[in-house]
Amino acid sequence: MDKLLVTGPRRLEGTIRASGSKNASLGVLAATLLVEGVSTVRNVPHTIDVVTMIDIIRSLGVPVEFDDDGTVTVDAREIQSYCPPYHMVRRLRGSFHLAGPLLARLGRVDIGLPGGCTIGPRPVDFHQNGFRDLGADVRQAHGMMLARAKRLKGTRIYLDPRFASVGTTLNLLMAASLAQGTTILENASRDPDVVETAYLMLAAGAQIDGLGTSTMVIDGVDRLTGPIEYRVGGDRIEAGTYLVGAAVTQGDVTVTDIEPGRLERVIERFLDAGLDVHVGVDRIRVIAHRRPKAIDLVTAPYPGFPTDLQPPFAAMASIADGKSVFEEAIFDGRLSYMDELRRMNAEIKRVRNIAVIQGVKQLSSAPVRAPDLRAGAALILAALNAEGTTEITGVESVDRGYERLDEKLTSLGADVRRVPVLHSLAAAELGA
Ligand code: EPU
Repeated sequence: MDKLLVTGPRRLEGTIRASGSKNASLGVLAATLLVEGVSTVRNVPHTIDVVTMIDIIRSLGVPVEFDDDGTVTVDAREIQSYCPPYHMVRRLRGSFHLAGPLLARLGRVDIGLPGGCTIGPRPVDFHQNGFRDLGADVRQAHGMMLARAKRLKGTRIYLDPRFASVGTTLNLLMAASLAQGTTILENASRDPDVVETAYLMLAAGAQIDGLGTSTMVIDGVDRLTGPIEYRVGGDRIEAGTYLVGAAVTQGDVTVTDIEPGRLERVIERFLDAGLDVHVGVDRIRVIAHRRPKAIDLVTAPYPGFPTDLQPPFAAMASIADGKSVFEEAIFDGRLSYMDELRRMNAEIKRVRNIAVIQGVKQLSSAPVRAPDLRAGAALILAALNAEGTTEITGVESVDRGYERLDEKLTSLGADVRRVPVLHSLAAAELGA
């Protein structure tokens, strides 16, 4: 286990390339199990969640290679097991994406139920109801979902419009692709991660209409076949995080290898904050000539403001000029990390899912703990602004989703050091 020592204030300046999207990769990797053949997926980020997902797929008897350059090769001509091991499944929510492909391809899946996590409860009732709509027998026993279906049957499925669940849409899209007949998914997620996963499936012969809209029509086919190739697009959440880095350090940061159209609501909030934003074909540049202005935001399913960027933007609001109001409308527990920001002198009042953030001129370093991935990113951003050295533990949560984080921040001019926690504890015990 490592901790990060971030010494501020430092101005971020320069250009970095976005890694491939972590969440799109998780969907795409799950979808390779639908393909009777070899799938080659490029631009997959080396993050802990992706590595765990690959290990789970290997544990099903499916050979997978993951090269240093981000190329993953999955040979799913045969799948030996329908039971992803729980000790691996529980490490990431995205492992539940495997349920749809295994059910569709093998007619059965036994998979551990994800519990709650620091961002709130993570139920799978929408997934289970959807599988039932497709004709599966779905039961819960011993902390597992057990689903069976000789062959799934296409039908019309209504998802909850308030959430347009990303994971449910992915699972039902993948399951329906091999079902008998046509499935119409209403209130489907329009999220780019769903669109990317569907692109891989289209390459293998899936019949999908209405991609990127809230009504998807899937004509089931008998088989999806390889070989196929797919390149994952840039990570919009990672990009947004580094762009906030410009805002909190009065810096000038450009992120390349992204589709700016996927960050429209985010760009709007940067403009609300009075920052200079330059948008190119595959890049966004944010320049902060002065302290950002306070902004209000409400998270919403795509194309709304992404819940995954709410914590990084809270770091920006903490040092903004004025009072910002944030509403987290997707995950119930996703404001609790703000208590850690308060330890750095952020002035935040929080009632349930609403936070009022009174910006201060500068934050102050403090020992803090990253409770989850995006909250960890927020603490790192806050530390870039803060006077002194901030010690951030729990960095393994951040490594779940950000590839080469310290290297990228350092290349932009940040003072970031990674230190193994055990060593530093030992040093403290020796009075060092
Ligand atoms: N929900 C239910 N029942 C379900 C499924 C979802 O009530 O069966 C609720 C959730 O509790 C939540 C809402 O629906 O309140 C939306 O959840 P969604 O299913 O869209 O989220 P997810 O698929 O579990 C993915 C990302 C999250 C991201 C959300 C929203 C992956 C692996 N995870 O989660 O990413 O925040 O979509 O965009 O793709 C992250 O990367 O840090 C992260 C948490």
